[in-house]
Amino acid sequence: MQKNIAVIPGDGIGPEVTQQSIKILEAIAQQFSHQFHYSYCLMGAEAIDKTGSPLPDATVETCLSSDAILFGAIGDPRYDNDPMARQRPEQGLLKLRKLLGLFANIRPITAYPSIHHLSPVKSRQLEGVDFIIVRELTGGIYFGKKELNEAHTQAMDECVYTLKEIEQVAHLAFAYARSRSKKITLVDKANVLETSRLWRKAIQELAAQYQDVQVEYMFVDNAAMQIILNPKQFDVILTENMFGDILSDEASVLGGSIGLLPSASLGASLALFEPIHGSYPQAAGKDIANPLGSILSAAMMLDYFQLKEEAALVRMAVEWTLAHGFVSKDIDPVNNYSTSTIGDLVRDFIENSLSSDINKFNIALSKSTII
Ligand code: IPM
Ligand code: MN
Repeated sequence: MQKNIAVIPGDGIGPEVTQQSIKILEAIAQQFSHQFHYSYCLMGAEAIDKTGSPLPDATVETCLSSDAILFGAIGDPRYDNDPMARQRPEQGLLKLRKLLGLFANIRPITAYPSIHHLSPVKSRQLEGVDFIIVRELTGGIYFGKKELNEAHTQAMDECVYTLKEIEQVAHLAFAYARSRSKKITLVDKANVLETSRLWRKAIQELAAQYQDVQVEYMFVDNAAMQIILNPKQFDVILTENMFGDILSDEASVLGGSIGLLPSASLGASLALFEPIHGSYPQAAGKDIANPLGSILSAAMMLDYFQLKEEAALVRMAVEWTLAHGFVSKDIDPVNNYSTSTIGDLVRDFIENSLSSDINKFNIALSKSTII
């Protein structure tokens, strides 16, 4: 199979984690005789520095002519601490999502048994946790009208949803539920927000078309609590843009680290894959960031290409590193391995060159991955 992949390394740790994913995609290409062609593009703070725009036209053009997009991370403290900045790195990603029509963000939440003990949530709560968050990605308060009065004493962000936008993402969520445990939880704030009431009505009506799927409704404040207290109850969480943003970071603690979680942003004809973590500027260039969120995003890309066996092999390799304690600093502050070493180990597993009794001592010394 031949695929053109637009690669946007982005800011902070984005480039170094993305580099590990490319390593893995290349190992897969070798092993299964595929050809992946990569076109590197600018977006975010780096793009502002080099071109004056967080999303240069060339990036949009390359993305539009690619089969999929692999994206690292976005954000820079220079802008976070300057509320008056005219341009912001994040505008690049938001604009790209909108321009490419990436209306659904899929975030699978997995709690790997081998690292249950590293999650702040008790192990017995984590057994069997396996759900996905389907977050609407191109509407709501993120994209509503924004206003700041002249005196800078009043600001406004409008939250708008159309029935069409809700139905589009809801159909996708129902399809996911059908392929899983057949349960959807719509998370909203229908006791307060008009938009949430529209979501609820839309889902109630759609449910008739999906009689085999059980539908539950939950207010977002309660959902924030339930994700920690009883995460097993969820199969597919469907929610609007901002609630999904917040709840997916919260849900990431179940898995032990936000650094582990991948995501796919899906549109009608294009998809973008990115880890859900941010740019983690303090770690940039230090080779300490967790590359697994990005590598698992590359696995989601392989699934999207219908390369199921390849995707499963990447996941198996990732689980192998976790089960053997080859984890980065965010997961284990005492015994940890570098970003690139973890990337090497995942690659070696894919190339089938790792023996089961691998010598950790040698790896720590960067001597050899193989005994
Ligand atoms: C995410 C990020 C983005 C968002 C930012 C970087 C704009 O937090 O993908 O979750 O809020 O959607
Ligand atoms: Mn977020």
